[in-house]
Amino acid sequence: MKQILNFLSIIIFCLGCVYIFAQNAIAKGESTVNNLENNFNGKKVLVAYLSWGGNTKSIAEKIQKQTGADMFRIETKVPYPTDYNETAYGVAKEQHEKGIKPELKDNGNVSGYDIIFVGTPAWWYTMAPAVMTFLENNDFKGKTIVPFITHGGGGGYNIAKEMGDFAKGSTVLKPIVIYENGNKDTENDIKVWLKELK
Ligand SMILES: Cc1cc2nc3c(=O)[nH]c(=O)nc-3n(C[C@H](O)[C@H](O)[C@H](O)COP(=O)(O)O)c2cc1C
Repeated sequence: MKQILNFLSIIIFCLGCVYIFAQNAIAKGESTVNNLENNFNGKKVLVAYLSWGGNTKSIAEKIQKQTGADMFRIETKVPYPTDYNETAYGVAKEQHEKGIKPELKDNGNVSGYDIIFVGTPAWWYTMAPAVMTFLENNDFKGKTIVPFITHGGGGGYNIAKEMGDFAKGSTVLKPIVIYENGNKDTENDIKVWLKELK
């Protein structure tokens, strides 16, 4: 009887080991598939963005959720006014017209990353000047930039190409261009866009 109980204990122990091993394999399989789905297998990914009114921030958060990337908010040393007209028709317009690239609170550091999503609102037909500062003040040689742009009706202009001009030595992939903060389809649009990135 004792021998039978011992034998049964060994069988139960072995089944337990097989179960734990199988669960681990399934978990690993899932995470690999997810990564492969997004083409970010083994890559270090950063989402860097500027947002004055919150639209670009909300898109940045959606991208972060689907990629597991680190986040960096681009902010100017001297903050933009909280009043829309003062920002749009005052400070930002002057920066645009005079080609001023404002100093940043923190330049960030892209050195540890392979892929950098760069988000900006469209400001006066191009990216926000502080995003130009960010692109110029970091070394993008050999890095991949993935632009995401929010706008108020004008579209993405030439912003993706211009990002490449500021970020010397980078490769720029297809941007996603979103009106204001998107709509009910945006989450899925981002998913499809991420899947198709090459
Ligand atoms: C200074 C400024 C300039 C803007 N210029 C444009 C523009 O040229 N074309 C456009 O479609 N929208 C323009 N907009 C609207 C913003 O691009 C749009 O509302 C964007 O989603 C705002 O993003 P945010 O909430 O992250 O700041 C401008 C907004 C501001 C504040």
